[in-house]
Amino acid sequence: MITKTAPIRSDKKPFEILTREDYSPVTYMLEVHHPQMARAAQPGQFVIVMSHATGERIPLTIADFDREKGTITLVIQAVGKTTMEMQQSCQVGTVLYGIAGPMGIPSHVSSAKKVVCVGGGLGVAPVYPQARAQKENGAYVIGVLGFRNKDLVFWEDKFRAICDELIICTDDGSAGIKGFVTDGIKQAIAKHPDIDEVVAIGPPVMMKASAQATRAAGIKTMVSLNPIMVDGTGMCGGCRVKVGESVKFACVDGPDFDGHQVDFDDLMVRLKRYKEEERVATERWSESCRMNGSPMATAA
Ligand SMILES: Cc1cc2nc3c(=O)[nH]c(=O)nc-3n(C[C@H](O)[C@H](O)[C@H](O)COP(=O)(O)OP(=O)(O)OC[C@H]3O[C@@H](n4cnc5c(N)ncnc54)[C@H](O)[C@@H]3O)c2cc1C
Ligand code: FES
Repeated sequence: MITKTAPIRSDKKPFEILTREDYSPVTYMLEVHHPQMARAAQPGQFVIVMSHATGERIPLTIADFDREKGTITLVIQAVGKTTMEMQQSCQVGTVLYGIAGPMGIPSHVSSAKKVVCVGGGLGVAPVYPQARAQKENGAYVIGVLGFRNKDLVFWEDKFRAICDELIICTDDGSAGIKGFVTDGIKQAIAKHPDIDEVVAIGPPVMMKASAQATRAAGIKTMVSLNPIMVDGTGMCGGCRVKVGESVKFACVDGPDFDGHQVDFDDLMVRLKRYKEEERVATERWSESCRMNGSPMATAA
């Protein structure tokens, strides 16, 4: 893992990137100077970021915040044009063009005594502030983190510092137990019949499986949904999700919802809606990189 940090200065620019770490060829962390956002941020909230003046606005979860340092942390996976472009351009000392937020309803930190916090892949980052808030609230916290293999594991140390128990799962068994996060959840439920709540964040298919794994035991299961967002203010309807009998807008009614009520199949269909346009945008950007001779970000 490569960490780059700017020298400590008092004249930091708004939205300046102070630290960058690359966790894998497609996953990178940016620590951004933004004292107001750091003061206002609550676990579960997100920001909408523009990396440059003509860039796309993309929603990103506030994966961590440090009120004393005045920074917020974003963990990003390069999956298409904008996130690949940012992987290339967002270096220590550069500035983001704009950050709006904090958006979304903060996660409800209940009076649960025993909580399982589950992160799958990139979902490990957004579940971290929720796990920390549960711990600060006096809960016994069991972390379950899932990755494809040991080379993709990140933030294990951060979770060990706040969790009473930590179960790492890898698809190939190269770290922790061999299996998916659902195997970790089942292991936790078998050992602790008194779990009050599970919080699961990751790809929709993983959150769907996690909700299925807790349904029989009747354990309350919260998930954080990531539909396509445009304005982030409840105006465009882009982030519409089906939850039970209701239609909700994830940007203003969520992003956290009861996992046993969410229609994940509908979410997964809607996420693929602009695949062709996204493919064309990524191809055009890659082509312009080739023409300019600039190095291209690693394809996801
Ligand atoms: C509340 C919320 C929090 C998120 N937090 C993070 C995070 O912390 N880290 C992270 O890497 N990603 C996060 N995402 C997803 C991130 O916004 C998308 O990966 C990004 O917008 C993709 O843009 P692109 O141009 O790189 O890829 P594209 O090629 O445009 O899209 C790739 C895929 O990303 C999704 N996507 C595209 N545009 C959007 C959009 N405007 N809003 C949401 N999803 C979109 C679609 O599934 C699409 O198929 C979050 C999404 C939401 C809704
Ligand atoms: S992003 Fe437009 S309504 Fe939620």
